[in-house]
Amino acid sequence: MRILVTGGAGYIGSHTVLTLVTAGHQVTVLDNFENSSPAALKRVSELAGVPIPSITADLLDATTVRSVLDVEAPDAVVHFAGLKSVGESTTNPLRYFVCNIGGTLNLLEAMDASGVRRLLFSSSATVYGAPRKVPISEEEPLSATNPYGRTKLIIEQMLGDMVTADDRWSIGILRYFNPVGAHPSGQLGEDPRGKPANLVPFVGQVATGRRPFVEVFGSDYETPDGTGIRDFIHVLDLAEGHVAALEWIVSNSGAHVWNLGTGRGYSVLEVLHAYSEAAGRDVPYRFAERRPGDVPASFAETTKAERELGWKARRGLIEMVSDHWRWQRLNPAGYQE
Ligand code: UD1
Repeated sequence: MRILVTGGAGYIGSHTVLTLVTAGHQVTVLDNFENSSPAALKRVSELAGVPIPSITADLLDATTVRSVLDVEAPDAVVHFAGLKSVGESTTNPLRYFVCNIGGTLNLLEAMDASGVRRLLFSSSATVYGAPRKVPISEEEPLSATNPYGRTKLIIEQMLGDMVTADDRWSIGILRYFNPVGAHPSGQLGEDPRGKPANLVPFVGQVATGRRPFVEVFGSDYETPDGTGIRDFIHVLDLAEGHVAALEWIVSNSGAHVWNLGTGRGYSVLEVLHAYSEAAGRDVPYRFAERRPGDVPASFAETTKAERELGWKARRGLIEMVSDHWRWQRLNPAGYQE
C-alpha cells in the first residue's frame, strides 16, 4: 500500500516507517521537524535500503495538507504528528488544542476531500485517566486528567462521530502504553529535547553520566516495591502493531480501538535495575515525592489486539533497555552529529 505517515520522523513514527517499508509498503512522510530530525529519516532510509520521500509541512497549513493528500492519493494515513508533553500541556493548553486537534481536523478534511478514508490514529493509555482496575481493557471508562490527554480523548470522540455519519471511513485508534527502547542497530531512537520527562530516556542520561541521579517519583504506592508500575512496550513491537492494524482496517470499516501494550507491568525500580544490568554500571537514584497526576499502576489487557490483529508484543524488558542503552551510547547527543 501507499501510506502517508504524519510525524514520521519522530520516535514512534521513524520506527514505524522502517517497519512499514520492510513489510513492503511505500511510505511518504509528512513532518514539520519541529520536534524531530531529518537525520532520523536518513537513517531509516539507510536501514531500509530505499529512499524515504518526505514533505516538510505543518498540519496547521490546511492548503498544503489538501494538496499533499491530492497529489499523494495514499491508500491510508498513519497519523502520529502532535505534541506529547503532559507538563507543557498544563501550562499551555491552547497550544495543544490548536496543534493536536486543529492539525487533526485539517488532516481529516483533506482526507475526506480527496477520498482517502483509512486512518490509524496514535492515541494513548492516558485516555483511561485513573483506571479503576488493571489490566485495562478497551471497554473501561475514559477520562482526561490533563490537556494533552484531553486532545487524545476529543480526537477519539470526533473519529467515532465521523464513522457514525459516514461508513466509508475505516479508522484504527491505537492506545499506546509506554513505548521504550530503540532499533537494535542503535541507529534509531528517542531524542528528547531538553530534560527528558519520561523514565527510560532519563535513566539513559544518568547511565551516561550526563545527569547525576534518577528521581523515583513515589515510593509508597500500593505496589509490591512501592514504586509505580507501567506497561513498557518495545517501540518495534508497537511499530509492528501498526502494520497489523493497517491490514485490518483495509478490510473493515468503522472505528476500532486497540490497546498496544505487553499486558504486563514493570515497576520503576525493576526498570532501573534492568537498565543498570544492561549498561553494566550503576544507575544512581533517589526517592522523591509522587509526581502529580501519576497513577499507581497501568497495564494493558491485550487480548483484543491479539484476537483481532493477530499481533502480540514479543520483546521483553531486557531487550527494551539493552536497545535503549545501545542507542544512548552510540548517540549521546541524539541525532546531532
Ligand atoms: C507519560 C504521560 C502519559 C503519556 C506518556 C507518553 C504523565 C503523567 N503521563 O506516561 O500521559 O501518554 O508519558 O510518553 O506524564 N518516573 C520516575 N522518574 C522520572 C520519570 C518517571 O520515577 O524521572 C516514573 C513515573 O512516576 C511513572 C513511571 O516512571 O511511575 C513512568 O513515567 P513516564 O515514563 O513519564 O510515563 P507515564 O507517566 O506512564
